[in-house]
Amino acid sequence: MDISEAQTYFQQATVVDHYARAVSRVGLWKSEELIFKRLFQPEQSILELGCGAGRIGIGMWELGYQRVLATDYCKEMVAEARRINQALEYGVPVQQADATNLQFEDGEFDGAIFGFNGLMQIPGRDNRFQAMQEINRVLKPGSWFVFTGHDRNRHGRKSFWKEERKLWMKGQQNPMIQDFGDLYYENDDGYWMFIHAADSKEVTADLEEAGFRVDVSALRSEICLEPPEVRDFSDDTRFWVVQKV
Ligand SMILES: C[S@@+](CC[C@H](N)C(=O)[O-])C[C@H]1O[C@@H](n2cnc3c(N)ncnc32)[C@H](O)[C@@H]1O
Repeated sequence: MDISEAQTYFQQATVVDHYARAVSRVGLWKSEELIFKRLFQPEQSILELGCGAGRIGIGMWELGYQRVLATDYCKEMVAEARRINQALEYGVPVQQADATNLQFEDGEFDGAIFGFNGLMQIPGRDNRFQAMQEINRVLKPGSWFVFTGHDRNRHGRKSFWKEERKLWMKGQQNPMIQDFGDLYYENDDGYWMFIHAADSKEVTADLEEAGFRVDVSALRSEICLEPPEVRDFSDDTRFWVVQKV
């Protein structure tokens, strides 16, 4: 599976609508607000990747961050984020951008965010590593990069991954996937979606090779208790707070 195939999920009108509704119904997670306020100053230029319909960029604008550039690979999401931004009469710029091939200058941004698992929805470890390198390149030294990702070692999933390992050993894994930890499945709404459930050691190794230092790696549930609308929107996920060395 390549990057554009994984994108077909996000192009569906109902999926775009799901993320659009999250802008007002969910807004910034409590955990995101805590972390962003700790790391980023309102006047700093921040690149947001995988913005979807704008939940984070718009939430940050409301917190007083007026230099967040919201970007997404999916042009349908970009159009929706622009529409919502205009309807609210905010000034969040929204652009199309592929995290694995950024059209920005070296050291252009003071910070970066890839919220709600977008990085782990890029198929192929090499592609995810390339995205980490690209994000590192466009940041100034010492800048922070925050992202979340599904975690393979989360409680309650051990037996699933044990069975999955047996399938891989017999060569009987889903032929659409390429790395152990990949999931390609039909969700409750009948759409096929790709997600990589990462192993923290692998992610740490890739981040370090891409030029980051890991400051915090913690499950959202270890950071704070989110209200029900956030937990309905996204189950527990791992926050990574990393710094360009
Ligand atoms: C789970 S959604 C999160 C959307 C939004 N951040 C939110 O929290 O509501 C992940 C987003 O990542 C985007 N994405 C996936 N691969 C990408 C890539 N290579 N470059 C940029 N964005 C990508 C998808 O199009 C999708 O909008």
